[in-house]
Formats: sequence, structure tokens, C-alpha cells
Amino acid sequence: MSETNKFVNQIIHGDCVEILKQIPDGTVDMCFADPPFNLKKKYGNWKDEKNTEEYIEWCERWLDEMVRVLKPSGTLFVHNIPKWLPYYAVHLNKKGMIFRHWIAWEAMSVPLGKTLLPSHYGILYYTKSRKGFKFYDLRRPHERCRKCGEFAKDYGGKKYMRHPFGTLLGDVWTDIHRIRHAKRRDNHPCQLPEPLLERLILMSTDEGDIVLDPFIGAGTTALSAKRLKRNFIGIDNDRKYVEITLRKLKEIKPFSNNGYVYSCNGNSHNKNNNPWKNHTVRDDELKEKAKNEKPEKQKKLIEIL
Ligand SMILES: C[S@@+](CC[C@H](N)C(=O)[O-])C[C@H]1O[C@@H](n2cnc3c(N)ncnc32)[C@H](O)[C@@H]1O
Repeated sequence: MSETNKFVNQIIHGDCVEILKQIPDGTVDMCFADPPFNLKKKYGNWKDEKNTEEYIEWCERWLDEMVRVLKPSGTLFVHNIPKWLPYYAVHLNKKGMIFRHWIAWEAMSVPLGKTLLPSHYGILYYTKSRKGFKFYDLRRPHERCRKCGEFAKDYGGKKYMRHPFGTLLGDVWTDIHRIRHAKRRDNHPCQLPEPLLERLILMSTDEGDIVLDPFIGAGTTALSAKRLKRNFIGIDNDRKYVEITLRKLKEIKPFSNNGYVYSCNGNSHNKNNNPWKNHTVRDDELKEKAKNEKPEKQKKLIEIL
């Protein structure tokens, strides 16, 4: 473990395969990878234009390293366009990893000639073991009308049955949007939104766990991990992105509310609270909070939870 400690809470400049090789076996709780998609994007140092064989062969190298560094209780997430994920899945299945889900993250893209309109990215979700892996039920606020704040669905006339803190999360995610505004993004061509990473981290780790991202880019995974009091290891082979990430890391504080992580005290029923800005909450934490409520509220909450 001490060998791993020197990488913990560091953003390392270098090639991910080379750096990963230096991290001891079985010491990381969660790995998330968002590699270049081989779509001729312009990254600083990376030629994002390999033939399929070359690209997959390269992907298998870092996938193997991620599997190796994961603890037996660990979780692996890989984000990519649907074109590449079946190759990853076949490889991970052969390595004995346990398939959990293909999460479809709805995000519109541009039509590419004679194709359906691509409207989701995939996140493969694997665990290293069949049992004993970490998984926490998550909830997200009920959908509401953006204009009037009222609930979007009438729940078959049984509104009173609605869970006070939202619906359990499924494997199709439509409520997290790509970063569209230039002022909210850094100088990186494919920065992911923090709520996406916060959700994956809350689902699969505890405070103090180690989250590793070999393609840290503008730092999304490290920032989310720090905010949620997890440790992180980030790698990128472009110094510019390492610097962006380090600068932002200095500014954020653990658990500072950025309006993304859903707060149970934020009162999900109050339409003036802009509840759709909040995304995710952990069921077990809610139950714990409910225990500390005043007796009348507590009784009501526990009945429903
Ligand atoms: C799709 S982007 C990741 C974006 C990131 N998820 C974010 O939210 O900002 C891929 C990143 O991988 C980096 N990269 C490409 N090849 C790499 C390699 N061999 N080792 C480490 N990083 C690499 C690129 O510089 C780029 O920042």
C-alpha cells in the first residue's frame, strides 16, 4: 500500500500505461477511464486516429493495468462511444471481470451521414468480484417542469406514494447534461460534467477510498473525488491538462456544495429550491439523516424510506 501512497492525491504527467505499471496490484477501489475515442479529435499530444486493431490493442493494455490495480472489492467504469465498448466488454469478460451494466448516458451528438442520430454514450460497469463489491443505491430527484416547478409525472394519481427524495436510479441517465457553455468549460475538447463522476463515485465507493483515472483531462474525476472526500490518482500525458487540473484542485473544498450533489436538507419538495440542479443522493445516507430528524418528521420519513 505504501508504494501506492506516493501516487495518491497526485496528478501525474505521463503515459498512463507506464504510470499504471508502477502502481501495486490490488490497491485501488475504483477506476474510471474516458480515453480518446479515436475520432480524430485534437488533443495536445495524442494522435487520435489509429486503425481499429491498433486502437483496441492499446486500449487492452490500459484496461489490463486497471484490472490489475483494482482491489478484489473494486469497480471499473469505462466511458466511450458505443462503437468501441463491445471490444472492451469481450476483453474484460475474458479477464474474469464481472459485467454489471451498460449505462446509457443520453447526450445528443451530430448525425454522421447514413446513421441513426447518435444520442447516448455508454459507460461499461464491471466489478472485480461477484460478491463483496461496493454498491450503493442512489436516488435522483423526481422530474419537474422547468417552468412551473410541478412534478412532470402524476404517478398514476398516487402522488402520495412518491418517495420524498426521488426515484431509484436506473441504467439510462437522461438528467445529466454535457457542458455546453464555454464559460463553464476549460480549454479541453471533451470535458465531462462533474455530476456524472459524482454519481459513479457515490455509487461505488466510501469516503477515504482511492479513485483512479488514467485519462484525467481537465480533472473531472479528481475534482469530484476530492469534493466527496475520496482520494484520487489522475494521469494525463498532456502537461497543459495536468496544470488545469492542479489549479482547479487547489480551489475546491471537500463537500463544498456546488449545487450538484443532492442535499437532503435542501428539501426536494420545494419548487423554489431548483431541485433539478441536484442530481444524486445515497439511499443509506438518507436513512441515516432521517434518524436525526425531529420525532414527527422522523416517523414520517422512516415510514416512507
Ligand atoms: C477524453 S479525454 C478525458 C477527459 C476527461 N474525462 C475530462 O472530463 O476532462 C482523454 C484524455 O486522455 C489524455 N491521453 C491521451 N493519451 C494518453 C495516454 N497515453 N496517457 C495518458 N493520458 C492520455 C488526453 O490528453 C486527454 O486529456
